[in-house]
Amino acid sequence: MTTRIGILISGRGSNMLALAEAVGERRIPDVEIAIVISDHTDAGGLQCAKEIGLETAVVERAGRTREEHDRAIVAELQSREVRFVCLAGYMRLLSKYFIDAYRNRILNIHPSLLPAFPGLDAHQQVLEHGVKWTGCTVHFVDESLDGGPIIGQRVVPVLDDDTEATLAARILEQEHKLYAEALALVVSGAYEIDGRRVHRQK
Ligand code: GRF
Repeated sequence: MTTRIGILISGRGSNMLALAEAVGERRIPDVEIAIVISDHTDAGGLQCAKEIGLETAVVERAGRTREEHDRAIVAELQSREVRFVCLAGYMRLLSKYFIDAYRNRILNIHPSLLPAFPGLDAHQQVLEHGVKWTGCTVHFVDESLDGGPIIGQRVVPVLDDDTEATLAARILEQEHKLYAEALALVVSGAYEIDGRRVHRQK
């Protein structure tokens, strides 16, 4: 049976495109991307999604509380029988309403090795702190900021001459691979959540 996915974006949407490519190549088998939703009209990723034939919707924040906005998004997702939601550069925190509606079925990608450097400006935080290794993390979304159970991580070195831009580019390459792997695992159902730990079933 095909599992229906919804992807939420706010920006250029390269992770969304990487997921779409992985679905197309069956690296994420038996999945259909049912909808790509942005919280504003000028997200570059919307056009990219349309160009590859994905259905898109814009659910604008303006004039709505966080929960009203999330109720409108959840309605869009549920009307398309979406089972899993992937946040891909989606720049708004989710309300408890949204998290409860899709408990343990919302994934997020963050450009650091969580729990280090959560929140905004992860690359800047990494460079300012001076760590030698960083990476990216895909995790389930709960009420905490970038703090839900970790599904997968990939590691990259921080080089002496890195700027935010060079570091971001090195991490992004790994993000695209990691997100596809993590979503494939979750869709397969071959994992267990044990407290904070996500175990792959043997
Ligand atoms: C990525 O670095 C992701 O980890 C972070 O926001 C960025 C989104 O990039 N949450 P894109 O829109 O997927 O290209």
